[in-house]
Amino acid sequence: MARGKFITFEGCDGCGKSTQLRLLSEYLTENGIPHIFTREPGGGKISEAIREILLSGKNMEMTDACEALLYAAARVQHLSDRVEPALQEGKLVICDRYVDSSMAYQAYGRGLGAEFIGQINGYALKHYTPDVTVFIDLTPEAAFLRKHGADENDRLEQAGMAFHKRVYEGYKTLAKESPERVVSIDGNQTPQEIFEAVVKTLKDRGCL
Ligand code: TYD
Repeated sequence: MARGKFITFEGCDGCGKSTQLRLLSEYLTENGIPHIFTREPGGGKISEAIREILLSGKNMEMTDACEALLYAAARVQHLSDRVEPALQEGKLVICDRYVDSSMAYQAYGRGLGAEFIGQINGYALKHYTPDVTVFIDLTPEAAFLRKHGADENDRLEQAGMAFHKRVYEGYKTLAKESPERVVSIDGNQTPQEIFEAVVKTLKDRGCL
């Protein structure tokens, strides 16, 4: 049986990724295309436990390097638990976030640098390069306005804006560096228009 394709979705918080994943899930089910949906960090007992450590508000003292290593550790376990078996069964694997998230958030956002993040993700990068990465291109400012409206003055979230801008610039750099893998889709379009672009991309790349 032919090995399945590995597709990842990326973008800043609030870019509309979840809506697209929901639409794609409906499309694949309706068309009888064997697939699994999974997400990072998480997707298995050990990876979900690491996710809890990573996303818990109780662990604010975690260093940036520790955070990056935990994401990388959760990733390796997730590849073995969920991704590899599904690829072997010839299924399409759709993963919500992957190494590009570590590059955008930890290398660029936290400033740990692409070299360190590349090194600690060497296993994933060497053995599991996605066939296609869909990047929903929406600036953090646009995502913030969409969520809160123009009048909202949420100081806490605004404080994080500089970080999210670095994350966004990181994604733009990654898309420029790997045009053969990363497809950018304008996140300012309607959800239906974005979805049409997603389906076209996956068809053009031989994934559907
Ligand atoms: P989640 O609730 O899944 O957010 P989203 O729906 O936006 O994907 O939380 C995942 C968070 O983890 C998100 O803010 C991005 C971050 N993240 C990293 O910082 N590095 C990583 O390698 C991954 C996979 C996620």
